[in-house]
Amino acid sequence: SPAAAAAARIIQTHQDRPGALLPMLHAIQDELGHIPEDSIALIAAALQRSRAEVYGVITFYPHFRLQPVQGRHLEICRAEACQARGAQILIDHAQRTLGCGLGQTSADGSITADPVYCLGLCAQGPAVMLDGQPHAHVTPARLDTLLAEDAT
Ligand code: FES
Repeated sequence: SPAAAAAARIIQTHQDRPGALLPMLHAIQDELGHIPEDSIALIAAALQRSRAEVYGVITFYPHFRLQPVQGRHLEICRAEACQARGAQILIDHAQRTLGCGLGQTSADGSITADPVYCLGLCAQGPAVMLDGQPHAHVTPARLDTLLAEDAT
């Protein structure tokens, strides 16, 4: 697949660096939006690790995904500062209005919600990322507005 070819190129540029696994996974995730399943064997071989080990790391970090995000991508910060500023209210609201909790895709496939752990907007929480764009001070009403705006 084209994704696997792109992943192979990234693997090659990272494989000889020490501690290559996480930077390699981040680079693939950033460029492709997911880590293609068919690149796991290649990563394992390049780093002389087992496939199970690579798979374990990918599934341990919520940031890494084996499938591209379906629909729009809403990430709600669940780290401490945002929790203290009402992130849970926002999460509950998103669950009610979208019909999907964090880590899930809505039934119609139009949006995927995920937790994220700090967006660097701690003093202006609750913070969310929508389609890669960070937003601060997000109330339930503001979330509704953001979601109603067209994805660009
Ligand atoms: Fe949410 Fe830092 S804790 S942005």
